[in-house]
Parts: sequence; C-alpha cells; structure tokens
Amino acid sequence: MILLDIEYLGHAAFRIVEDKIVIIDPFLEGNPMATLKTSDIKKMDIVLVTHGHGDHLGNAIEISKATGATFVAMFELTNFAQKKGVGAVEPMNIGGTVDVKGIKVTMTNATHSSDFAGGAGHSSGFVLDFGSHRIYHAGDTGLFYDMKLIGELYEPDIALLPIGSRFTMGIKEAARAVELIGAKKIIPMHYNTFPGIRQNPARFKEIVGNLAEVIVLRPGEKLSL
Ligand code: NI
Ligand code: MN
Repeated sequence: MILLDIEYLGHAAFRIVEDKIVIIDPFLEGNPMATLKTSDIKKMDIVLVTHGHGDHLGNAIEISKATGATFVAMFELTNFAQKKGVGAVEPMNIGGTVDVKGIKVTMTNATHSSDFAGGAGHSSGFVLDFGSHRIYHAGDTGLFYDMKLIGELYEPDIALLPIGSRFTMGIKEAARAVELIGAKKIIPMHYNTFPGIRQNPARFKEIVGNLAEVIVLRPGEKLSL
C-alpha cells in the first residue's frame, strides 16, 4: 500500500506526496504562514490552482516552469499560464474529470469570485482521487448545498475546508459543510494568515464534534495516511 502525506503549507496551500508530488494553491512568497520557499521545490509533478486570486495562484507559474509540472486549472487560467510560459497544462472546468499522471482530478464548483490579469472569473475546488484516498480541496467558497452531491458522487475521505470567514465560510458554515460532504477527516485552512481572517480552529473542532475528525495542522505539519 502506498503511503500518502498531506503537508499543510499555510493558508490554502498543501503539498500531497504519494506516487506523484502534487501542490495545490502554492501561495508561498508573501504568505506570512508559509514554511516553504518556491526555491526549495526541486521536484513537482502536478500544480493545481483553484482560482486566480493572488493568495491561490501564488507561485504556481514559477513552480510549473522550474519543475516542468503540469499546471491544472480552469480553462482561462491555464491559457493565462501558457502565455506566461508554462509548458504543460491541463485545462478543465467545473464538473469535468481529467486523469493527470494517474490521479483522477475532478473540478468542483466553489461559490466565490476570481480575478487574474484584470479579468473577472469563477472559482473552483478539486477532488483528487489517488486510488488509495480521495481528497476534496474546497478552494475559497461559501457554503452551498451541492456539497452534498460532491460527497455522494466522489466520496472524499478527507476534506480541506476554509474556515476563516470574511472571504469564505466561517466555522459555523464549515461545520455544516462537514455534515453535507460526509468526509470523516477534515483539515481546516484559509484562516489566521492575515488579521482579517482570524479564527479559532479549536472552536471549529468543538462544533463539528463527533461528526468527523478535525485535524488542525500548523504550517509545515503533515498528516500521513
Ligand atoms: Ni479567493
Ligand atoms: Mn483566498
């Protein structure tokens, strides 16, 4: 059995290591919580970006260019990355599933705006099916009832959920999301990076109760499965 590591890099950034190395929303430079620098990344297979906001697109383009990793995002965003010199891209959109280097990547909806290079856009989340585990990264999003469908269709066993409020769900909404999605392990994200998104993850854990196991990772910490 292949082991899978989920490493929290602060904010909404995660590095997942299984057979392949994956990074999601790599906001590293300028992220006061980040424990990893872009220049520390020597090897990467897949870079996933949920939307064009700077705290998610982050250093995705540099990492893809430096490592040759495939850049996976919404169509408009992969076009943007190509114009910036990224070689390998996998354009997709909400509802679609693409096999990227053996990992089944499904793009899910997120109720949130997006922006890059001055153009408005839409946001997404991802379900990553590694075979051994299915991970749902919700991206930046408010609570929406179709999270129930994401749970039913893709059966994620782990969900990475924003709890910071202001720009995304807060702890009250995220606790309802846990109920809808049905994943048994939850890692909170997108909080305490900046003063405007202060949140107490212990309080979130309390509200979720025995519905799921809330695993609070500090930046640099890993969950091994
Ligand atoms: Ni955003
Ligand atoms: Mn954000």
